[in-house]
Amino acid sequence: MKVTVVGAGAVGATCADNIARKELCTELVLLDIKEGVAEGKAQDMMQTATLLGFDTKIVGSTNDYSKTAKSDVVVITSGLPRKPGMTREELIGVNAGIVRTVAQNILQYSPDAIIIVISNPMDTMTYLALTSTGLPKNRIIGMGGTLDSSRFKYQLSQHLGCSPADLNAVVVGGHGDTTMIPLMRLATWNSAPVTDFLSLTQQEQIIKDTMVGGATLTALIGTSAWYAPGAAGAALVESILRNEKKLFTCCVALEGEYGQSDICLGVPVTIGRNGWEKILDFKLNETEQAAFNKSADAVRSMNDVLKTL
Ligand code: 2OP
Repeated sequence: MKVTVVGAGAVGATCADNIARKELCTELVLLDIKEGVAEGKAQDMMQTATLLGFDTKIVGSTNDYSKTAKSDVVVITSGLPRKPGMTREELIGVNAGIVRTVAQNILQYSPDAIIIVISNPMDTMTYLALTSTGLPKNRIIGMGGTLDSSRFKYQLSQHLGCSPADLNAVVVGGHGDTTMIPLMRLATWNSAPVTDFLSLTQQEQIIKDTMVGGATLTALIGTSAWYAPGAAGAALVESILRNEKKLFTCCVALEGEYGQSDICLGVPVTIGRNGWEKILDFKLNETEQAAFNKSADAVRSMNDVLKTL
């Protein structure tokens, strides 16, 4: 198996590092436009191989897409990251051009690849990757909700004083500070509803902290977070290559599910060898569906910006 990670910045490099440590593939290509950066980081990671005990061959490349040929999965992380105070949406102008070009270059050498999009604004970049390549919908997966759901579980665990691993909780909708919807009503602590253990004030705080999870880290660090985004990307690669059919919230093309069409938005899907395989189209209550529709409206108007670029 072969995986390519495009973009050797913090998110891309962390994603590659996780993929290598888990030995998800035999060959891993890290590609970046900046001269020498991908080669350097690939070498650095290869020098951890004997220390960490993995056997994946990591190759760095400065924009030479021929090295990525015949990749089974490609993770696109390239583009500008957020600066403190910036929304993900402000990145659209620059990142749209980058993502469109990267997707075309990738498909030239790996026509059968499954593409995972991490670049922001993630919902719009996923929609762009889908519409500009014309690939079957199952092969384009936006990572956002996987990360947001992990952040939601972290926030819940802090208030419940429990292990995040014992929690089941999903964030649906867009991957934006105001468009994501942490589904508190459906979150469980080993199948007990978390709402039984949290006051309404706590629940509101958790939802708020989850929604601004990325912005909080950007303010603290000075740039976009990378450990959890990189790990979320790698978890999706793992479920694809091992055909695990695990359930993740991912940004995928909706065709009537959750009442929406002609849009890519975060919903629970199974991830396996064919990319995203099945959407869990479960019934939201009236408030949740209204929030989902509002989120779709916001993402749709962001998608409309693509037409003006
Ligand atoms: C985040 O939320 C990078 O969008 C990503 O941290």
